[in-house]
Amino acid sequence: MLTMSGDVLKTKRLVIGQISMCRGCCCGNTDCGKPEVPVEWLKVEWRRMGLLKNVQLTISGCLGPCDLSNVVTVSDFSGSVWLGNIRHLYQYQALVDWAFDSKVAGRLLPLPEEFADCRFDPFRRVGSKAERQEEFKLRKAESSIAG
Ligand code: FES
Repeated sequence: MLTMSGDVLKTKRLVIGQISMCRGCCCGNTDCGKPEVPVEWLKVEWRRMGLLKNVQLTISGCLGPCDLSNVVTVSDFSGSVWLGNIRHLYQYQALVDWAFDSKVAGRLLPLPEEFADCRFDPFRRVGSKAERQEEFKLRKAESSIAG
C-alpha cells in the first residue's frame, strides 16, 4: 500500500532487492529451442527459503535483449545488473542461494563469481564523435516523425 509523505511516495513493502526473471516471448520458450525458465520451481524455492518479503521475485514479460535468453535483472537501490544465458537449473539454484545469503546479510551481496560471464549491458553508449553524430541524426529523424 502506498502512502504519501510530503511529495514523496513511500511503500510499506520495502525489500533489499528485486530479481526479475524474464519469461517473455523468447526466454524460457522451449518450443523455440530456448532453455526452460523453471518458474514454478523458483516460486516454491522463494517461499521455502523465506525470501518473499526480502527479495522481490518478479517473473516478467520480455525485458528486451531476447538474443541473450534467458535474461535476469538484479536490482537494488544502487542500480541493476543484467544477466543473460542463464541456461541451467544449477544457475537458478545459485541465485536462490545467493538471495538467501543476501537476506541474512540484510543487503544484496555481490553476485557469485560464476555469473561474471553472464553479465551484459543492454544500453547503447555513444562513444565516438561519429557515433554521437549518428545518434543526433536518429533523434532528429525520430522527432520529425513524431511531429
Ligand atoms: S523474452 Fe526475455 S528478453 Fe525478450
